[in-house]
Amino acid sequence: MTARERRDLDSRENIEAFVDLFYQHVFDDERLAPIFLDVAAIDLAVHLPHIKDYWCKLLLGDKHYRRHTMNIHRQLHGKQPLQAGDFRRWLELFNTTLDEGFAGERTERARQVAASIAANMAANLPAKER
Ligand code: HEM
Repeated sequence: MTARERRDLDSRENIEAFVDLFYQHVFDDERLAPIFLDVAAIDLAVHLPHIKDYWCKLLLGDKHYRRHTMNIHRQLHGKQPLQAGDFRRWLELFNTTLDEGFAGERTERARQVAASIAANMAANLPAKER
């Protein structure tokens, strides 16, 4: 795909396509898949719409997402401590998914926002369990 054919994350439709692709990679990943499927045992039909609303809020200013993401990860961390390597892998998959089919100003914003939220999340999880 050439740079010109890549879509930006500037509409709900494109954000939804990105999230679907990102999760395909997460579920193929030996390190991250068990955290989603075994530790959290997510129901995809519930989880994916939340993730899509979350990115529509961050990138488009959409108002649907109103949940406490940090608390959700704190609970997850209580079940199985999230490690620095988990965050590195999560960000790596996030960025390589963007590289596959997305480009533009909002895409670059997504990279920055994801990196800063990941760093903030890692720094705010209880240290003794990390
Ligand atoms: C080590 C890296 C990460 C892992 C392993 C991870 C894993 C998970 C899991 C398993 C859930 C589902 C929890 C549940 O429903 O019980 C979840 C929810 C979520 N995660 Fe992460 N996460 C990571 C980093 C991030 C980052 C950096 C962001 C944001 C940039 C993020 C955004 C979200 C959102 C929006 C939800 C949905 C919360 C909701 O139900 O409303 N995650 N994550």
